[in-house]
Amino acid sequence: MSVTPNIIPFPEREGGPDWRGVGSGRQESVARIRSREAVRDSRTMKSTVPVIEVAALRVEREDVILESIDWRVVRGEHWAILGANGSGKTSLLRALTGYLPPTAGEIRVLGETYGRFDWRDLRTRIGLVSSSVHQMMDDNETALKAVVSGRYAQIGYWGELRDEDRRAADAILRRIEAPELRQRPWRFLSQGERQRVLIGRALMASPRLLILDEPCAGLDPVAREHFLQFIGRLARVRGAPTMVLVTHHVEEIVPIFSHVLMLKSGRVLAAGPRARVLTSATLSSAFAAPVRLTRARGRYSLAVRAHRGLVI
Ligand SMILES: Nc1ncnc2c1ncn2[C@@H]1O[C@H](COP(=O)(O)OP(=O)(O)O)[C@@H](O)[C@H]1O
Ligand SMILES: [Mg+2]
Repeated sequence: MSVTPNIIPFPEREGGPDWRGVGSGRQESVARIRSREAVRDSRTMKSTVPVIEVAALRVEREDVILESIDWRVVRGEHWAILGANGSGKTSLLRALTGYLPPTAGEIRVLGETYGRFDWRDLRTRIGLVSSSVHQMMDDNETALKAVVSGRYAQIGYWGELRDEDRRAADAILRRIEAPELRQRPWRFLSQGERQRVLIGRALMASPRLLILDEPCAGLDPVAREHFLQFIGRLARVRGAPTMVLVTHHVEEIVPIFSHVLMLKSGRVLAAGPRARVLTSATLSSAFAAPVRLTRARGRYSLAVRAHRGLVI
């Protein structure tokens, strides 16, 4: 059985504790997981600490990947991270989840400071769904077992399902609006259904923060629209985790995303309330091309203006 933290790991991992360390022969006992969950719940329900605080973050490898990143997210906000390909979106998420250690600056997530806390424990409070997990899922695993496995920080659920877990997973399947997928193996699920099941898997661990890295990649236009509406409903439920959506499509910034962080070449181009950040001017700068933002009935779209002399 392969074991992972509750978050979906990125394919290539660098630095920090090995994600397999959570399992590999020392899988946590159910009792330990339960007591950790109880402590977490009592701590976080009343918590007013910022969800994310990043100050003067710099990540440098052969080149500078992230530079002078300041970013603060508090409860009640949901953020979209927007930027051109290669602007540093995924790297910022990897830094936040302890997979890309900072060169300088400070990262605090849910009140814990990177480097002064066991990041493996923190990862269990963050749900992360990225397309890379698709390759890691077991083709034969049912949606129900995939969701249950999120609680035990493992990919592939081999044991007998406990009644309590089955009940919790059924509740989550309803929450992700997919009760009919319960017994359907992963290999038969559509891309949109898979994304919902992965969100369900992440929710099984009751995360305070849910990060979605380009969840709409690979969805057809109708599936994308359904998925975005689902995200909106999910975010509106009382006690929903703080959501961070990574995208390079303004169409995906649905109304529940109150704030936008725009990255360009590893730096913050703009950050703050959506209406202030999402403008034709900042987007033209972000994508280094003249673009025009329009908004109709709460939804955005972007037109790329014809550019004389443009060579494709
Ligand atoms: N571990 C690494 N070592 C060196 N360069 C990296 C590393 N990770 C990412 N990069 C580079 O950092 C830049 C930002 O990448 P990424 O965060 O994946 O962008 P985005 O998700 O916005 O498309 C890219 O130029 C990428 O090649
Ligand atoms: Mg990316």
